[in-house]
Amino acid sequence: MPKPHKHVFVCTEQRPTGHLRSSCAQHGCGEVYDEFLWELQNRNLSNSVYVMATGCMGPCSEGPSVLVYPEGVMYAKVTKGNIAEIFEQQLMDGSPIEDLKMSREFW
Ligand code: FES
Repeated sequence: MPKPHKHVFVCTEQRPTGHLRSSCAQHGCGEVYDEFLWELQNRNLSNSVYVMATGCMGPCSEGPSVLVYPEGVMYAKVTKGNIAEIFEQQLMDGSPIEDLKMSREFW
């Protein structure tokens, strides 16, 4: 596998019902992760972008949380509808989507 230019970490943490902290699973991370994989395949970018499901990254109330490296940009409350824009603007063009960035309070 060639070294990817971008790494995308999608939080897929799931906590039991009634847990004190919410989780990205409660906010719909499953379909967000699936959409990332679909777009990755559809755009034929699997040699340059690596998408990985990960555990909690901290800001659970703001999930689904998505972290992109090497920029170190974290996105909050990501929906399936945001994924195409993340590919076009952040992953292919290198420009963060300001409206979707995690607030400084959390990241
Ligand atoms: S559960 Fe996703 S950031 Fe904590």
